[in-house]
Amino acid sequence: MARLVGLLGPRDPDVPAYRWLADGLRLLIADGRLPSGQALPSERRLTEALDLSRTTVTRAYAVLVEDGFLRARQGSGHVATLPLGQQRVGVGGALLPGFGTGEALLDLTCAAGRAPVGTAEAYAKAVQQLPSYLAGTGYATAGLPQLQALIAQRYAQRGLPTEPDQILVVSGALSGVSLAVRALTRPGDPVLVETPSYPNSVDAARRSGARLIPIAVEPDGWDLEAIASTVAATRPVAAQLILDFHNPTGALMLDAEREQLAAALRRAGTVAIVDETMLEVELDEVERPLPFAAHLSRTILVGSSSKSHWGGLRTGWLRVPRPLLPRLLQARIADDLGAPILEQLTLTELLAARPGLHPESRAALRASRQAMVDALPSALPGARWTVPAGGLSLWVELPEPRSRQLAAAARELELLISPGPQFALQHGLDSFVRLPYKDPAEVVTEAIGRLAQAWLAVQESPGRRAGSALRPVVA
Ligand SMILES: Cc1ncc(COP(=O)(O)O)c(C=O)c1O
Repeated sequence: MARLVGLLGPRDPDVPAYRWLADGLRLLIADGRLPSGQALPSERRLTEALDLSRTTVTRAYAVLVEDGFLRARQGSGHVATLPLGQQRVGVGGALLPGFGTGEALLDLTCAAGRAPVGTAEAYAKAVQQLPSYLAGTGYATAGLPQLQALIAQRYAQRGLPTEPDQILVVSGALSGVSLAVRALTRPGDPVLVETPSYPNSVDAARRSGARLIPIAVEPDGWDLEAIASTVAATRPVAAQLILDFHNPTGALMLDAEREQLAAALRRAGTVAIVDETMLEVELDEVERPLPFAAHLSRTILVGSSSKSHWGGLRTGWLRVPRPLLPRLLQARIADDLGAPILEQLTLTELLAARPGLHPESRAALRASRQAMVDALPSALPGARWTVPAGGLSLWVELPEPRSRQLAAAARELELLISPGPQFALQHGLDSFVRLPYKDPAEVVTEAIGRLAQAWLAVQESPGRRAGSALRPVVA
């Protein structure tokens, strides 16, 4: 009770007491500080603790029940809940049509989690600041200065001095990668891409007309000698790379390797576009390598708040070397003229409080990763994987190249997974599946249980077809 009273804070004398209480509780529930499923104090106890009238508390609870934030328990009392019925975007299979939205569906195709505690509160603070921006045009083409400054400061903390005006705030890392590749290349230009990789970024390069040149990322990382000879032979204009908890393998490139890669790219005059989306999802203590731009100055670093905070913010940024700034700014103008002000204000609040992952999110992810690692040996006998020190998924190698059949069998059991070929530049990688552990541990365990059944089904019918309809990889 004392914690709840503290979280609600002092009463706002300007609004009716029931409204203040209902708004405060709604924010705490939406934010996860009063987690869904948690019992609320009885009306009588809350009346006493807050020194309000019983009618006020009854009315506030009634408003929240009406809005779907409280459920009246059979017998007595109320339980916090979320009005998910109307807001299933990104929950289960509801993100795109045609893949089922049933309650029973478990979706392991998206390596992204829910918003951490504090997100709704940051939005509320941003809304309070909004009026002072309404008098202007609202086009912050490079980004809100205070947000640019916070992002620049984070690079400085990581050992890379950065001025705020080198930061371009964009609508997510994908939009950033896409902008960078378009600004730097002309149709037909050779561009280095990893395989496997995050497929949407590869698609962005493909759509810009680039000639894609693959370099392999193995579960244990990059073959730098092979990459150096590819670079020397093809002299790519740009190289799209994910060096920090690579999606999907989870590999992390160490400083000595970065140095070697930077030397090869420098010799060829290649600009690196390094996607650091997963950077802050560090689950184990690791020695952090320097940002790639500290090794190769002609590097555009791409950041995102999607994994450290929330994908729904749709905010990311580029750190651009000064000589390339005019080209990037010009390309950006043709793109979208700036990211939304409210989201930038919200991200400023969130980054000021904490640049990285919320400790609760980290603890939950570690527990879920462990649940997956515990359940996998009996579910997929003979499969192999390396437990990554960060990121949101395991890249699992099956004993046979049948991941597409496994995905089809899993779908029949209401489990969606992404088979390896979805991350390949052209084809292949059918021995791999990407298994995200972003759900609570008990959900992960349930999902791997279904995967075990699906794998049995695949082995019992070797002639099974590898269904063609796969859910696109979103994150
Ligand atoms: C490597 C990588 N880049 C980009 C994205 C998309 O990020 P954003 O939501 O910031 O556009 C993801 C999402 O999973 C990712 O893994």
